[in-house]
Amino acid sequence: MGALAIALPTRRATVRLARAVAAALGPGDLLILGGDLGAGKTFFTRALCRALGLSPRTRVTSPTFTLVHEHETRLPVAHADLYRLRDPDELGELGLRERRGEGAVVVVEWGAPYEAALGGDAIVLDLATPAPAPGAPPTPGRSATLRATGPTAAAALEAIRRAIVPPPAA
Ligand SMILES: Nc1ncnc2c1ncn2[C@@H]1O[C@H](COP(=O)(O)OP(=O)(O)OP(=O)(O)O)[C@@H](O)[C@H]1O
Ligand SMILES: [Mg+2]
Repeated sequence: MGALAIALPTRRATVRLARAVAAALGPGDLLILGGDLGAGKTFFTRALCRALGLSPRTRVTSPTFTLVHEHETRLPVAHADLYRLRDPDELGELGLRERRGEGAVVVVEWGAPYEAALGGDAIVLDLATPAPAPGAPPTPGRSATLRATGPTAAAALEAIRRAIVPPPAA
């Protein structure tokens, strides 16, 4: 199956998508988040962690400087932001591939260049801010595109598709 495109006109729509993704994830899954600065990658990760049962009291912030934050949720989440990764050799020291082997869900902002190094078979979620039409006011919200790079991710993507695209009425 091909990519899945979803309009996210409101933050609430992003939260709903995060819930559908959370329900489809299993131990060791890799979720790569793309999109420009401010596209909503950390916002999405926060909603995903909440959907996986993280207490509302626990903050989910950008791991920009520490590179990886761990969250003890229904499935443990390792949340990384590789924007500042200077040397691809540093990636191994972060132990993200090992965390997958240990059953954590690994969520990586700016992770696309490292998809293979992180073990592949990823759900790739790209967030975008729609460009306004000429002369029109800025378009609110975001859009998302999801694709899978391997068989486990493809099965998860189908579950997400079923959760957010209602089947046609019989
Ligand atoms: N539909 C939407 N979905 C997600 N975020 C939205 C949406 N509409 C507006 N926003 C806002 O966009 C901002 C996204 O910021 P966020 O830190 O999540 O971006 P980011 O992609 O992680 O950026 P960076 O590349 O700097 O890590 C938040 O302030 C959020 O409230
Ligand atoms: Mg971020």
